[in-house]
Amino acid sequence: AAAASLPQVCEPSVYSDEEYADIDWNNLGFGLMPTDYMYTMKCTQDDNFEQGQLSPYGNIELSPSAGVLNYAQGLFEGTKAYRREDGRLFLFRPDQNAIRMQIGAERMCMPSPTVEQFVDAVKQTALANRRWIPPPGKGSLYIRPLLMGSGPILGLAPAPEYTFLIYASAVGNYFKEGLAPLSLYVEDESHRASRGGAGGVKTIANYAPVLKALTRARNRGFSDVLYLDSVNKKNIEEASSCNIFIVKGNVLSTPATNGTILEGVTRKSIIGVARDLGYQVEERSISVEELMDGDEVFCTGTAVGVAPVGSITYQNKRVEYKMSAHPMCRELYSTLVGIQTGLIEDKRGWIVDI
Ligand code: COI
Repeated sequence: AAAASLPQVCEPSVYSDEEYADIDWNNLGFGLMPTDYMYTMKCTQDDNFEQGQLSPYGNIELSPSAGVLNYAQGLFEGTKAYRREDGRLFLFRPDQNAIRMQIGAERMCMPSPTVEQFVDAVKQTALANRRWIPPPGKGSLYIRPLLMGSGPILGLAPAPEYTFLIYASAVGNYFKEGLAPLSLYVEDESHRASRGGAGGVKTIANYAPVLKALTRARNRGFSDVLYLDSVNKKNIEEASSCNIFIVKGNVLSTPATNGTILEGVTRKSIIGVARDLGYQVEERSISVEELMDGDEVFCTGTAVGVAPVGSITYQNKRVEYKMSAHPMCRELYSTLVGIQTGLIEDKRGWIVDI
């Protein structure tokens, strides 16, 4: 039941030798800037993924009855490739994305690539598009792996065929605020995830439902929306595009991942860095009141990075954080960047050269 034809394969000889693509590297935002190649790998419902291939970036063909189009049987990931001052190209913890995709695939009834296949495919995609990896300090190559039910299905059931696809885009800051503090709006009408749902995995089905609240908030000048738990509407969960942390004294807290919150790779890394630096880190329930009483608040995500929050608005009440310099956020972020740029020793093997 092959529904989508494979794109034409490219020989490595057609990769460009140019060091950099001819674009303005000083003004990267988070818009789609298509790169040269994408990676595709397919399998059937009862099969394993086998040989994948690079091909020129372009449209794909899908059956109108593809499982992903009809029943949202799909996942995505996000990871980044960076360039160091010494010219080395590297990825940050791509195995964590691979593992998360496997957990998500299990939840969405899909087969998934092995960790090795995933990481190898990400490396191949990054290398083939290396002229799009920005100069050090100018941004990164955002790599977007997708897993989807590409086979045709009409009655509700898992699709008969799956496609794993990776594309990439050169990116800079996610928020238009750049590195300036964000203003978050706490949404108490609609929810991002419910108990027993799929909020803890990176399914595409978690993202369209937040667009309405996000658009409404953006139109009112907010950077992003922060969601509350759907049972008590009392505890904070995550923002539309990132996890959240709150600092009170020397304690760093973030909502526990109990199935409704995405297990962010940056979230996990910041927790590790904070513990190494001697901070107490708590993963637990955090009420909106506690959030509003914090010393500093910040968001984390692969796309977002580590972004300080300047203000929170909840039910017409707005608070601005006193610690406007965000000292702990800055310390944690610069430690993470230090590990990435090689200034700080990478004791855990987070950096993967490509
Ligand atoms: C990421 O951080 O990689 C994400 O997937 C967030 C997305 C909404 C841009």
